[in-house]
Amino acid sequence: MAEEKLPTRAQDFSEWYNQLVLKSQLADYAPVRGCMIVRPYGWALWENIQGALDRRFKATGHQNVAFPLLIPKSFIEKEKHHVEGFSPELAVVTIGGGEELAEPLILRPTSETIIGHMWSKWIQSYRDLPVLMNQWNSVVRWELRTKLFLRTLEFYWQEGHTAHATQQEAEAETLQMLDTYTDFAVNEAAIPVIPGKKSDAEKFAGADITYSIEAMMGDGKALQAGTSHFLGQNFAQAFEVKYLDATGLVHHRSIGDLMRYAIVNQGLDTLAYYGDFQPSPGATVFSGDEGTRYSDEQLYALALYISSLKPPPNPNPVDDRSRRGRQIFQQQGCAGCHTPPLYTSNKLTPALGFHIPEDLLQSEDILNYSVGTDPTLAMATRRGTGFYKVPSLRGVWYRNAFGHAGQAATLEEWLDPARLRDDYVPKGFHLGLGPIKGHEFGLKLAPDDREALIAFLKTL
Ligand code: HEC
Repeated sequence: MAEEKLPTRAQDFSEWYNQLVLKSQLADYAPVRGCMIVRPYGWALWENIQGALDRRFKATGHQNVAFPLLIPKSFIEKEKHHVEGFSPELAVVTIGGGEELAEPLILRPTSETIIGHMWSKWIQSYRDLPVLMNQWNSVVRWELRTKLFLRTLEFYWQEGHTAHATQQEAEAETLQMLDTYTDFAVNEAAIPVIPGKKSDAEKFAGADITYSIEAMMGDGKALQAGTSHFLGQNFAQAFEVKYLDATGLVHHRSIGDLMRYAIVNQGLDTLAYYGDFQPSPGATVFSGDEGTRYSDEQLYALALYISSLKPPPNPNPVDDRSRRGRQIFQQQGCAGCHTPPLYTSNKLTPALGFHIPEDLLQSEDILNYSVGTDPTLAMATRRGTGFYKVPSLRGVWYRNAFGHAGQAATLEEWLDPARLRDDYVPKGFHLGLGPIKGHEFGLKLAPDDREALIAFLKTL
């Protein structure tokens, strides 16, 4: 065997590679076209790769799991781009135990869908986040052109899947894993790679952004050698992964979440008529007694009702004035707390004078800076945690109560410095004379800047 010489790389790069792999007994062709058998020497290399990467994953907090090889075919159809991208490559099982299956199963081409399905059960509150999972497995994609180790019908890999409360955190994780792959390729495998972002045409089916590391091959072509995807909310929405955030408010509306929300707010009897919101025709309007818990049936009906409310379309135009307002919003540092796209950083700020317990200070959720929110309500009510969440400014144009106690009736009033005076009479909810204290951002603006800022806020 040793006498047979390999072609040189210059003669035939592809053949040189094939023969090298076969002769060194790393792998062999399987009886099924496009499949390969990894032989002991090849598998030992793989075990070393696994070990070096697994250590790195665990150091970033990932835990290993095993999801099944078979996935209901309907799962793959839930995310539009995912199904379009993977359909041509799917292997489908229609018969099991000699019987036609009621629902065809697919051999996993990747596991986002089944993981999304399970996460909708497991992720109930912000306490369950982040989720950092990894699995070492093989996946099946019906590839037409195959090559030993580079692409076969069934191939071995690892797939990490994570869920986060915020986009910032999810993007940071995506980039962290790209760094991990780069570090492994360069420092363990001694393969120089170029990390970067894929074009829209080349990104993963169902991802918002795909990053990859690319190795340069001898023939000058780039070889994708590892990918890290930011999936946005595409799979979370397709599989209805929803949870309660740190303030007990809902991130994605579902009936179950709204029931919990209604419990939290059951003392409020203003839900039926709020701003421009109108009860749906025929809806039962509730006005709960403080202190008595609604029955589950009432809560369910209330939740259905809340979810039936639709905000009216925003009539405020984006024009030169509002565009100037956007700049003022940036310049005044408003975006630091009211961060796009939701116009909230989702952080908790302490009420005035509230001392944050030492062990909470490290939490990512907490901004250790008080905007001067009046502590009375924050400490005295059932929700009295001492914290206020930075509110989202989405939809402020149709609200008519601003600030934690709703004392300001309009944005104009919220941004009017007069509201700080002792003899001030608030125009919103109030119990008589008295200033609306705290949150002094934007109060010192010149009148036309203030108008522009308000024009911008009304477009959100
Ligand atoms: C340090 C963080 C921070 C900055 C900076 C900040 N805000 Fe706020 N904002 C908050 C918090 C916290 C609240 C809730 C305060 C309360 O209810 O007492 C709030 C409330 C508001 C509200 C009332 C919303 C509601 O639903 O009641 C508006 C409007 C608002 N901010 C606009 C702005 C604008 C405009 C700027 C810049 C000029 C700005 N904020 C800067 C943290 C911030």
